[in-house]
Amino acid sequence: MDYKITLIPGDGIGPEIVEEARQVLDRVGEVYGHRFSYKKILMGGCSIDAFGVPLTDEALETARNSDSVLLGAVGGNVGNSRWYDVAPNLRPEAGLLAIRKGLGLFANIRPAYLYKELAGACPLKDSVIGNGFDMVIMRELTGGLYFGERYTKEINGVMTAMDTLVYSEEEIRRIAVKAFDIAMKRRKSVISVDKANVLDSSRLWRKVVEEVAKDYPEVTLTHMLVDNCAMQLVMNPGQFDVVLTENMFGDILSDEASMITGSIGMLSSASMNEGKFGLYEPSHGSAPDIAGKDMANPIATILSAAMMLSYSFDLDKEAEAVENAVQQVLTEGYRTPDIMSEGCKKVGTKEMGRLICERIK
Ligand code: IPM
Ligand code: MG
Repeated sequence: MDYKITLIPGDGIGPEIVEEARQVLDRVGEVYGHRFSYKKILMGGCSIDAFGVPLTDEALETARNSDSVLLGAVGGNVGNSRWYDVAPNLRPEAGLLAIRKGLGLFANIRPAYLYKELAGACPLKDSVIGNGFDMVIMRELTGGLYFGERYTKEINGVMTAMDTLVYSEEEIRRIAVKAFDIAMKRRKSVISVDKANVLDSSRLWRKVVEEVAKDYPEVTLTHMLVDNCAMQLVMNPGQFDVVLTENMFGDILSDEASMITGSIGMLSSASMNEGKFGLYEPSHGSAPDIAGKDMANPIATILSAAMMLSYSFDLDKEAEAVENAVQQVLTEGYRTPDIMSEGCKKVGTKEMGRLICERIK
């Protein structure tokens, strides 16, 4: 089959890591007899430089007309970059929000998994790590505080800012359904995170999630308040399977979850619409400080491409081949600088990509 993929290299280390993931896809195509064709678009700072906006309508159209999207990272150093001396809706990150909204990518899936080989980098005590952890954060991505009405203006002589947090039943239901569907393929547990002791939107969240849970009698549903969840993640991370939560809570908790793995350079993510269309990207950022130095870890992007193979194209065997190749290079002791430890073999971005390609059989 022929699959049309939009590539968004973006800023910082984005172009280097996307290039390695593209080579991995080509290798999968070669070995398994598929054809992947690519169109590149600009998003983020590079698009601001070229067109004055972080995402053009044409670029969004190109992405819309493809079968899926692979993204590196967008943005630069806040504070010392020309990309940030402009209105918020013209900054690099606005491109990311626009593509999420524009393509209806409401379901953000962020796995956080402790690699045995990298357990030394986990900042938690051995007694807390126990047998390790393997969770998926299912974050709502196109509603809540990120997309509610907002303003900053003077009211009665006082500067006042407002952001609004809105969720409809439908928005909650569709993300809850995705979370329960994924839980059915995993350990059949959903922990739904909210702030129902304070927020109306959270009380509706809880009610709708409970309704959805009735259709999944095999899945255990637990509710957890967000502040407690932040604490539980570092106290007993092994208890989490699927964490279901709204946009802002998910933004914060997914950073916490990725940090405790100790290897954010390894974590992939997917943002999906109602169907099989998705945007796949590493969980980490654009790391401008190491851009162009052949130091970035391409594994998160390569694993994001594997998620694409499985979630968007139903190529589960191919996705597994990529995951196995990654596992194999780790077992053989190859490490990029971010995950380097004593006794291992240090390699750069390109070499890591090549080693993984070589092991796809
Ligand atoms: C993320 C990022 C974005 C978000 C930023 C860059 C707008 O932090 O993908 O988690 O808050 O969603
Ligand atoms: Mg974030």
